[in-house]
Amino acid sequence: MSFDLSVFSNKNIILAVTGGIAAYKSAILVRRLKDYGFNVRVVMTKGAQAFITPLTFQALSGNSVHTELLDTEAEAGMGHIELARWADLILVAPASCDTIAKFAAGLADDLLSTLYLATKAPVWAAPAMNQQMWAAKATQRNLNTLVEDGVHVIMPEAGSQACGDVGLGRMPEPEDLAEQVKNYFHQAQRAIAEKFGLLAGKRVVITAGPTREAIDPVRYISNHSTGKMGFAIAAACYSAGAKVTLLAGPVSLDTPNGVRRINVSSAIKMLDESMHQLEEGCDIFIATAAVADYRVAEVSEHKIKKAGDELNVSLVKNPDIVATIAQQEKRPFMVGFAAETRNVEEYAAGKLVAKKLDMIACNDVSRADIGFASDQNAMTVFFAEQYQMEKRDLEKASKQDIAQQLVEAIHDALHHEIETKVK
Ligand code: C5P
Repeated sequence: MSFDLSVFSNKNIILAVTGGIAAYKSAILVRRLKDYGFNVRVVMTKGAQAFITPLTFQALSGNSVHTELLDTEAEAGMGHIELARWADLILVAPASCDTIAKFAAGLADDLLSTLYLATKAPVWAAPAMNQQMWAAKATQRNLNTLVEDGVHVIMPEAGSQACGDVGLGRMPEPEDLAEQVKNYFHQAQRAIAEKFGLLAGKRVVITAGPTREAIDPVRYISNHSTGKMGFAIAAACYSAGAKVTLLAGPVSLDTPNGVRRINVSSAIKMLDESMHQLEEGCDIFIATAAVADYRVAEVSEHKIKKAGDELNVSLVKNPDIVATIAQQEKRPFMVGFAAETRNVEEYAAGKLVAKKLDMIACNDVSRADIGFASDQNAMTVFFAEQYQMEKRDLEKASKQDIAQQLVEAIHDALHHEIETKVK
């Protein structure tokens, strides 16, 4: 089972637009919802069409707009019952006084009021109206009924209104509404992932990117690692229901959604933070970082001045982070990486044993089309002997795809271990 938390291409939103000047904001709302990847179909009441045309929404949503309840042509395309079933969420924005009253009374005399009764999907309403109409007892009474009936009412904002009044009744900005919808689906997907995901509830720590070893206050030794693979794995682990902490060296990548990121610079700092995470609790440790093998023996306190034709800097070996964690008494499931230019599998298998890892993923960095700065990768995965699992070849694919396959490999090994213990 895989959950992509950043894309909602399988989620269907009906945006119902009713009569009110705020309808112009709904055009932007369609745009923002589409930006998040939602499928959007627009339903308009007669009142809405007095403010904005169906053609606008058709162009923005990429779907024909639904306006009639019993139009033979429209019903032949997607009838009202089908539309009610299609929706994962119905967002009424703006929701007029009239629509709110219809919902409260249970009328079914137009497409939207019928959809409201016919759908199982959650219904959200963003009322927008003149402040006096908002304050009217009947409106408040109807809104209370809606809330009692399970409608999520998004409170209007206060401010100056199109009619010249000042007060409560403005529809929130389209960006806010779209974000609320996105957050709702994120949380829903997260709840499923935490219950059923491949790494449900597991605490995962991932090292990623290069380390930076200071020479003096302005210079350092580092490498070309971009951190892309580690960040993709962090995203895949989170999507699989894990609690993820990413120990990131200096890279210019956005933190994946839901992932806790701790920036570190040197190998020593990365090790310190790894040990700290181990104390906090860690079930799976994934070392993707390209840790500098050596650091400068004595970091100069001041900028080293140019002098002479040669400069000798003495280096000392850095600790091996993944091997150190693997030696701890309460060690997590350990995953390492190996980037080699020759004898790839032989060296990787050697590191698996030498570093006491449970699993190692290796790739051939002599190939120009994969690895390091590339967005694609291909890997071979080996498991420690006690798992009695065959090596796995992960064919060339995007780093996201490879990350997903690695999550599956980790899951399979963990379950294999459980099965072997039970036998
Ligand atoms: O020995 P080599 O650098 O090839 O090993 C690669 C693996 O070991 C990677 O998983 C890398 O993140 C980890 N490593 C480490 N600390 C080091 C060197 C490598 O955790 N100092």
